[in-house]
Amino acid sequence: MIFDTHTHYDDTKYEDDREAVLASLSACGVGRIVNIAASMASVDTTLALAQSHDFIYAALGVHPDEVGELTEADMDRLTELALKYAYRNAGDPKKPGLNKVVAIGEIGLDYYWDESPREIQKEWFVRQLDVARAVDLPVVIHSRDAAKDTFDILKEHCTGEGCGIVHCFSYSKEMAREFLNLGYYIALGGVTTFKNGRAAKEVAAYVPSDRLLLETDCPYLAPVPNRGKRNWSGNLTYVADAIAELRGITREEVENMTWENARRLYRLND
Ligand code: NI
Repeated sequence: MIFDTHTHYDDTKYEDDREAVLASLSACGVGRIVNIAASMASVDTTLALAQSHDFIYAALGVHPDEVGELTEADMDRLTELALKYAYRNAGDPKKPGLNKVVAIGEIGLDYYWDESPREIQKEWFVRQLDVARAVDLPVVIHSRDAAKDTFDILKEHCTGEGCGIVHCFSYSKEMAREFLNLGYYIALGGVTTFKNGRAAKEVAAYVPSDRLLLETDCPYLAPVPNRGKRNWSGNLTYVADAIAELRGITREEVENMTWENARRLYRLND
């Protein structure tokens, strides 16, 4: 079974056929997904999606492109929702309900788009790492063209076995080693199938088998042969095939190990 650790099914690109796409996933071998919020608005839509589908879990947080308008009241709200709906409450009779929040994210730094000044991005990255610590959940990290600052901030604020995921890992094998040493898992997706995805391919072969995760980041980054089209979790078989070939193992072995890794990282016991 495939565990898609990073999706955005609340995106408007699914507004015409969202339920049909989600309903088709189990036939493609996709057993679980985590929908990842990227703005305060998508915190609500992500939570709603997770609460209305058994196989969907939620990560709540604000992407570095969206931090420009954040306030401390937003941090309070994020903390409150994460505490109230944390997955760990699912079995607690005093806190009934559909408790699905498994991480804080996606949070981080994006120096490629530079939508907000870098000092502002850093400030809200650190504040959201504080939130993750306060609610005791792992983090989902977005980092683009910002390896050193991301590493320095995580080293200071968020380390330890299973403390989080560096998603859509786009740096070198050497940099992967640094994040692995801090305790992070590495998530890879469509880029591992791209002709120009040399770094991702090297990382896919390098990451220890207990630290690798599969992700789509859908609707973005569809793998070959669907590159450029809207992505969905059914495409992960292409990614699993690519990683299997790079590691010299079977697709089933890739699916099994990344499934177990995702359950461990997101602390799922069902
Ligand atoms: Ni994403």
